[in-house]
Parts: sequence; C-alpha cells; structure tokens
Amino acid sequence: MKAFRVQGVGGESPEAAQLWELGCLGLVEEEGAIVAYFDSERELPLEGAWETLPERDYVAEYQAGLGPVRVGRLVVAPSHRAVEVTDGDVVVWLDPGSAFGTGHHETTRMALASLTRLDLSGRTVLDVGAGTGLLAIAAERLGAWRAYGVDVDAATVPVARENARRNLSSARFALGSLDLPTLPGRFDVVVANLYAELHAQLLPAYAARLLPGGRLAVTGILTRLKGLVLDAVPAQLEVVHGEEDGEWTLLELVRRP
Ligand SMILES: C[S@@+](CC[C@H](N)C(=O)[O-])C[C@H]1O[C@@H](n2cnc3c(N)ncnc32)[C@H](O)[C@@H]1O
Repeated sequence: MKAFRVQGVGGESPEAAQLWELGCLGLVEEEGAIVAYFDSERELPLEGAWETLPERDYVAEYQAGLGPVRVGRLVVAPSHRAVEVTDGDVVVWLDPGSAFGTGHHETTRMALASLTRLDLSGRTVLDVGAGTGLLAIAAERLGAWRAYGVDVDAATVPVARENARRNLSSARFALGSLDLPTLPGRFDVVVANLYAELHAQLLPAYAARLLPGGRLAVTGILTRLKGLVLDAVPAQLEVVHGEEDGEWTLLELVRRP
C-alpha cells in the first residue's frame, strides 16, 4: 500500500477532491496534511510525497477483532480467543479465512438458532452453501450423526475442512451443490443460508434431498423478497415457521410424508 502526503491542506480542499478523482482508495487528515492511499505509486499532478506503508494482513486483523457469539447453548469462538462457558454449552472454534460464516451475521445466527431448536441426535444434516462450515460443524456438535457441507466456491472447502479438524468434527465438506452425486441420498435436515432468488429456484431440489418429515431452514432472505420464496414453495413442502432479524428472514419448512 502506498500513501501520498500533501502538506498544508485539509479534507475539504480542492486537492482532496482531486485525489478522490484520481482514484485514491481512502483519504485521512493528519496534522495539517492529507494522506491519500493508493495500491501503487503513479504520476500525480499535485505537490506531495510518496510513502510506503508496511504490508498489513487485513484478514488477520479482522479476525483478531472478532469476539465470540452465543446462540442459546452454542458458542462460536475465534480459535485465538478464550471464552467463558457453562455446563451444557457447545463450543465451535472457528477461523473464517476469507469464507462467510462466523455467527456475527443475523442470517447465520438465525440458522444456528434453528439448528439448536431441533433434536439432531442421530440425524443427518446437509448445509448448502457451507462457507466456513459453521452450520454443519455446529449440527454435528449438537448431536447429528452425519453432517455434510457443500459450497460452489472452491476457496471455502479447505477453510471448512480446517475448521472441522480444529473442532475434532466429522463434518464433511465438498465442492458443489445439491446435485453433487457423491452426497448420500436424502437428509433429515437441510439448512441453507443463500439468498431469496436462489432459494426460489432450489426449493424443489431441497425437497428432493429431504426425507419425509425432514426439516428445511432457509435464510439469507431479505424480508422484502420473502414473497419470492413463499410463492415458489412446492407441494411437497409446508412452511411451519418464519422469523426476522433486522432486514433478514428465516423460514422453516417440513417435507410432507
Ligand atoms: C452467505 S454464505 C453462508 C455461509 C454459512 N453457511 C453461514 O450461514 O454463515 C453463502 C455461501 O453459499 C455459497 N453458494 C452460493 N450459491 C451456491 C449454490 N448454488 N450451492 C452451494 N453453495 C452456494 C457461497 O459460495 C457462500 O459460501
């Protein structure tokens, strides 16, 4: 990262406006100067001096700032943090890398809460769009017999596998989606934190992956788009619960016998 320092001007100056127009990534005021950030040095039509900033690992800094998240008796904790737990708590140690799913987002928390409401003992669970693997690992730690996670983003699979290893979890992760031929048939529970338009398309495929009486939890749905999902519910599925957190909705459905 490079910084371009212009002395004697402030953040509201024409020079600041010009630096934004020239494509700076960010700009701060510092003791009678402005400092504009660029990813590389370039010719600029302004009087100033370039400085080289030390490389920073923004992912590591972000992770270091994350605290534990509690959802009922489930505690999701970054692996570098100490956490306070009480009897009956289930801890999932998690490092997200560049994948989504730390428990800090409303949708992940609602999906976790949905899993904690189910009796998962001896059940099979499929997490569609597993990201960090949190939902599948949590399901397994909550008693599921087998938990699988699939994701179409190849970068997430090693992250999820590493998180499973960190938790001594047997949850398995693979690249792909609901149509992955190596997935074992049908599941007691399917959970998916994706988005409304995609859920509307995938509902028949979720139904096909569920055992009769099986539960589906779908979230990542902007509440204003909930109707898209509800309108697409096929006859084999019945909506049994809905909840909102902020602008997000989670729906729970049951596969009819
Ligand atoms: C919002 S993240 C959810 C991560 C985690 N399950 C959670 O609840 O926090 C959505 C994930 O779904 C993946 N994804 C998107 N479309 C998918 C699809 N059709 N099938 C499987 N995974 C998909 C993305 O790559 C991303 O990792």
